[in-house]
Amino acid sequence: DRQHDGRLPKASMRQLDAALAMLADSLMPTQEEKAAQLQAFEAIRSLLTARYPGARVHLFGSVANGLSVRHNNDLDVCLELGEITADDTAGKGEVAVVVGELMEAAGMSDVLTLPKARVPVVKFVVPRTGTKVDVTVNNLLACINTKLLADYCAIEPRLAPLVALVKHWAKQRAVNDPYRGTLSSYCYVLMCIFLLQTRPVPALPALQQLPPTFRRTVGQWTCEFCDEVESLRGFGAANNESLAELVWAFFEYWAWRHNYSHDVISIRRGACMHKDEKDWTRRIGNERHLVCIEDPFELTHDLGRTVDRQTRAVLHKEFTRAATLLRDAEDPLDALFAPY
Ligand code: GTP
Ligand code: MG
Repeated sequence: DRQHDGRLPKASMRQLDAALAMLADSLMPTQEEKAAQLQAFEAIRSLLTARYPGARVHLFGSVANGLSVRHNNDLDVCLELGEITADDTAGKGEVAVVVGELMEAAGMSDVLTLPKARVPVVKFVVPRTGTKVDVTVNNLLACINTKLLADYCAIEPRLAPLVALVKHWAKQRAVNDPYRGTLSSYCYVLMCIFLLQTRPVPALPALQQLPPTFRRTVGQWTCEFCDEVESLRGFGAANNESLAELVWAFFEYWAWRHNYSHDVISIRRGACMHKDEKDWTRRIGNERHLVCIEDPFELTHDLGRTVDRQTRAVLHKEFTRAATLLRDAEDPLDALFAPY
């Protein structure tokens, strides 16, 4: 059932494209929703800076990088404290406990503190708006990768609608839950960027392969990339693929082209790498490396590590289902985004 030429053989291509564009549009948050989120952020920032006067408070994740989808976006907040180093997980955990108590006292609902997680976090809900919030401590890599994603987003206007559709699909099909062995939203964004970088005519450059204009060091990691977004804005102009073709290419790649036994996708390189090159060839502890997605900065981090044999089969079945529907169904959208 392999389809090798990559083109979507469809008479109703224009219709499909228009329907997808409309759906993507309806998934983007409205101005009011954005304003409400920023207001919630400012309220949380005030609470945090009242308790930690010297701290900086950053917004990161989808609300900050322009890739949020309505009804499905938590507010990701980073508390930056000078006295805690990047690799002091215990110190971050202790701060998380304090922040959890602070949010409880401020009347936030459903406060859940996870001080011992790989990335210590406090989760809660702002009662009036129902906004879900994650507060992490000194999560500077996430702030920097948020900027990288925002810059990609600013260079290529097809990225945001593609991400919106893929995130919506993943949510509907129940394959967007790293705690249950599928992939995080962040993974899906990297997969979309990788797709645009690797089209026969690329629609995005690999910003980490260009002469760096942005540099930060976080612990052992050097984060460097070209952030001259203005001068790169026309980069994808030679690629004339429509949104429908890109959505199809996304699913077609993960259904039939990706080599799950050898390949690592890397937006840092803008190309696939071989698992050997990363030493991601065997299971170590809980890291199975069955679907390999390299973090752009934390190079030892395989974002697909949460996937096991059973969930890889589920993911592959869903990618194949989506690609097959797009290829064969007359009017595929209802089925494509049907709740699992
Ligand atoms: P939605 O909230 O579903 O709209 O997606 P999101 O784009 O905000 O992604 P998510 O909430 O999963 O993650 C929030 C941010 O945390 C991402 O944008 C990244 O900046 C960062 N992040 C998430 N997972 C990882 C990870 O495993 N490693 C690193 N370094 N950063 C991550
Ligand atoms: Mg988020």
